[in-house]
Amino acid sequence: MSDDVSETVARSLRGHEQSASFVVVANRLPVDRVQMPDGSTAWRTSPGGLVTALEPVLRKLGGAWIGWSGAPDEELDPFDLDGVQLVPIPIFDQEVGEYYEGFSNATLWPLYHDVIATPEFHREWWDSYVAVNRRFAEYAAVIAEKDGVVWVQDYQLQLVPQMLRELRPDLRIGFFLHVPFPPAELFTQLPWRRRILEGLLGADIVGFQTTGAAQNFVRLVRQRVGSKTHRDTIYLENGRTVTAKAFPISIDSVYFENLARKPSTQARADEIRASLGNPKFVLLGVDRLDYTKGMPQRLRAFGELAQQGILDPADAVFVQVAPPSRERVDQYRRLRDEIDRIVGRINGDVGRIGQPPITYLHSSYPREEMAALYRAADVMVVTPLRDGMNLVAKEYVACRYEDTGALVLSEFAGASAELKQAYLVNPYDINGMKATMLKAISDPPKEKAKRMRAMRRQVMEHDVDKWAQGFLEDLETVLEPHGKRTRPVD
Ligand code: F6P
Repeated sequence: MSDDVSETVARSLRGHEQSASFVVVANRLPVDRVQMPDGSTAWRTSPGGLVTALEPVLRKLGGAWIGWSGAPDEELDPFDLDGVQLVPIPIFDQEVGEYYEGFSNATLWPLYHDVIATPEFHREWWDSYVAVNRRFAEYAAVIAEKDGVVWVQDYQLQLVPQMLRELRPDLRIGFFLHVPFPPAELFTQLPWRRRILEGLLGADIVGFQTTGAAQNFVRLVRQRVGSKTHRDTIYLENGRTVTAKAFPISIDSVYFENLARKPSTQARADEIRASLGNPKFVLLGVDRLDYTKGMPQRLRAFGELAQQGILDPADAVFVQVAPPSRERVDQYRRLRDEIDRIVGRINGDVGRIGQPPITYLHSSYPREEMAALYRAADVMVVTPLRDGMNLVAKEYVACRYEDTGALVLSEFAGASAELKQAYLVNPYDINGMKATMLKAISDPPKEKAKRMRAMRRQVMEHDVDKWAQGFLEDLETVLEPHGKRTRPVD
């Protein structure tokens, strides 16, 4: 173990001799702890795009995943699950408040999402962000094999590439940002803006969801770090180059389609429709309960259609699934109260006995149930105020294998760059959303099928495997400062 590695890392990893040629570093581990009937606990692969994307790659390359279990103060030994080495990293109670809830989710999250909520800037949160990022970098430095590949994920860990490069210059380092990257006009509010840019520049490749985000980054590097740039290439003073470009993430499209085709899924979809009173139209929203997702605006738009008698609650119902998220952060608590009020008011105003226009579910569901909900929905309404990609939109499309159904999609979701045939909306324009929801309901089946067919082609051809492969192939062919390839490309 290197002398540069701190005491916490040395203690946690003592006796852990295994190393890996491919290492994923993410804030969270890809597993959830589950309580077994006998009272013991076990780990189960957690759902979600990132996990689905990287798991097969990890298995193939003999990989390790470094991340947090989600509980404070937990120092767990590394363990193997389905051929992947899981390396839990401790995050201590105060750091959960300062690094995770604070700097990650009350500073960076709102700043990177168009300042929909006001970002808070606190120096002690920043100090904690630096300390936790250093710990992640030190873990990766110990686990990664000589000349290995390390792929760092998301906004919680933007300093890791630079810190890791200082510890292990032999490594090939990739970084992928799952959320939007803001324009200079917003990013420059951040007191530590240059440190973040330099942190990311430690990577060989910095990947974004959209071309616009990559361009924002390149422009900021030119302005604030002073590096020369040409298109997606950044030339650092030390002769190293960094590529910044878009790699739009996707889903395991075939997996979702197969799930949707199962007779049990269709049976469950029929059951869901029956329990909603077999209305003519089911509209569906599925979002983590987050203020970036535009739920109040969407529910208001639907509510007005019901209140004005344009949609009869006997004919059209809205199902909103909103699993809880980051509940200790103030803005999230306030949002929950706001949604409760909006749903209560609309259901109180226009609902009838056994016939609420909105069914609101504050829980998360397994993928099987989600596929059944997608099958049950005539119109999927995905209207975030800002979103890196939005995989729910792609999951819905993958499940509509008969080219039925309609997707109402925000222009401000990364997915809108690929799903151009969706019914696109500006989520701030309530009248526009009302008109578009009505159009998505009432357009002729032929028009809907044409749109869905085109979107399905996109989603089925560009799946998550292609995303991971594209990124890792680019990382494999990174050039050394003098232009020579350090690794044969086959
Ligand atoms: O993509 C955004 C993201 O923050 C991921 O990094 C994370 O896995 C997911 O949303 C859920 O957020 P959290 O880990 O804060 O519950």
